[in-house]
Amino acid sequence: MKGIILIAGAGTRLYPLTKMVNKPLLPVYDKPMLYYPLSTLMLFGIRDILVICAPKDLENLKKVFGDGSELGLNMSFAVQEKPRGIADAFLIGEDFIAGDEVCLILGDNIFYMGDNIEPFRKEIAANEGATVFGFRVCDPERFGVVEFDENFKALSLEEKPKQPKSNYAVVGLYFYKPDVVEKAKRLTPSARGELEITDINKMYLEEKKLNVVVMRRGNAWLDAGTPETLSEASQFVEIVEKRQGLKISCIEEIAFRRGFIDNRQMEKLIEQSPKGTEYRAYLQRVYEEYKS
Ligand code: G1P
Repeated sequence: MKGIILIAGAGTRLYPLTKMVNKPLLPVYDKPMLYYPLSTLMLFGIRDILVICAPKDLENLKKVFGDGSELGLNMSFAVQEKPRGIADAFLIGEDFIAGDEVCLILGDNIFYMGDNIEPFRKEIAANEGATVFGFRVCDPERFGVVEFDENFKALSLEEKPKQPKSNYAVVGLYFYKPDVVEKAKRLTPSARGELEITDINKMYLEEKKLNVVVMRRGNAWLDAGTPETLSEASQFVEIVEKRQGLKISCIEEIAFRRGFIDNRQMEKLIEQSPKGTEYRAYLQRVYEEYKS
């Protein structure tokens, strides 16, 4: 399965934070924002990853992540010239997807699932068309909204409805069969001039091939696309990490513990991190605990 991270907006909602700093590199507590969606893909076992970013972010992102091989990944980068919508990712990424299944994650969506990820993996393995996730929120009108019947089967989908039919937002994490590319080609821009991911999901719903999995209590889904939500996400990460002494979305830890990299490569990553830092001490601790 291929993975795409889309973080291509101009970062306007985060201005002036994004005046100097690239949005994907803005700090969410102790790590750059892009570490979070990247680690979600890694936790789902996805190692072929395309990052689609705004033209101004490309060079810096390449510098920070390279080709991903240090983490046992195969990373590449592409640009979305204009904000043409989320579903445009499948057109930009067509050659990269190359007839494979694909997971798309939005670059400012932060997930904290812990061991709850296991049942989600099973749902994805059984995917027959599209698998997406519903998460209960107080402000559904800000999102794509899914309406369910009494058995939690999806009935309808609406993008940013004024009068939402439920409190369940569709989160920015989507799994598709290869035919998503053909579906994206059939889309026409919405009233806001974008190729909507909700329109893709509606096509699967009509074909009865849309599986909406509810992320129940005990999972956290945050976005970091505005100053307020960025600050909230930072606080969440800080509180959980300090309390547990475990890091959220430490990409080196995930690469090592998932077996993407061996002992020697982990030692190298530790060596590369600055001496005396808390991050290095953390990597060292992970290494001692899990080395083979
Ligand atoms: C987008 C999608 C929406 C989804 C949301 C999740 O909204 O269009 O369906 O619920 O991401 O973050 P946008 O970021 O375009 O406002």
